Amino acid sequence: MLSVNNLVTSYGLIKALKGVSLEAKKGAVTCILGPNGAGKTTLMFTLAGILAPDTGTVSLLDQNLTGLGAPKILRKGLALVPENRLVFPDLSVYENLLAGAFTQSRAMAAQVSDDIDKMYDRFPILKARHDQPAGNLSGGEQQMLALARALMSRPSILLMDEPSVGLSPLIVDEIFAIIKQLNEDGMSILLVEQNATKALQVADYFYLLDQGKVTFSGTPDQLKDDDIIKRAYLGGG
Ligand SMILES: Nc1ncnc2c1ncn2[C@@H]1O[C@H](COP(=O)(O)OP(=O)(O)OP(=O)(O)O)[C@@H](O)[C@H]1O
Ligand SMILES: [Mg+2]
Repeated sequence: MLSVNNLVTSYGLIKALKGVSLEAKKGAVTCILGPNGAGKTTLMFTLAGILAPDTGTVSLLDQNLTGLGAPKILRKGLALVPENRLVFPDLSVYENLLAGAFTQSRAMAAQVSDDIDKMYDRFPILKARHDQPAGNLSGGEQQMLALARALMSRPSILLMDEPSVGLSPLIVDEIFAIIKQLNEDGMSILLVEQNATKALQVADYFYLLDQGKVTFSGTPDQLKDDDIIKRAYLGGG
């Protein structure tokens, strides 16, 4: 459903993506692994339209997304949960959710209110904290809020950039349980992770990004059999 072709993105003279191609299938969890500085966030920013690629194309469900800019890409159905959550700290939980629905028209007010109720059902902690400033939430709660805010745009694919980073193991388990549940409910997900062991619990297909290039792609079984990945990511080999 999401098709990325030969994407090159630079910061000035530095090429952070050097021709990245990948596919994310409908209904699947596709995982991108890669070390610090590999270009994972650059890839997420380019797909979401926050950065413009030098060359290459991105399409979602046969719609061209290349060069459209972030608001239009969000309207076309691609939503990003950014690295480090980036909730609006001074806005309440409720206001953060409302902000996530900015792509919906005024006529959709009833639907938006309904969607917020659905988020409160899925994430009861957000309901309990609905009138608190988002900056007062714990890291795990902020991750849930960032995820719920992204879902408010009713995406057809959800991108998540390292949702487990900086969270305690118990909270990471909770986040991955939510990712699994969302996927079982039909959401297509492109997940950036460095925790390969956790990613193996949810992902259907893997790409390894290293120094701006895809250096491996394969199924979970192929990933577990790859010697380089075993050494670097799975603590074995
Ligand atoms: N704003 C920027 N200006 C210049 N170079 C940048 C900028 N942001 C990232 N880079 C460089 O681009 C490369 C890819 O960075 P990126 O943040 O995409 O990596 P990442 O895989 O997300 O890393 P991490 O796992 O640490 O989040 C790195 O070499 C980084 O130093
Ligand atoms: Mg990153």
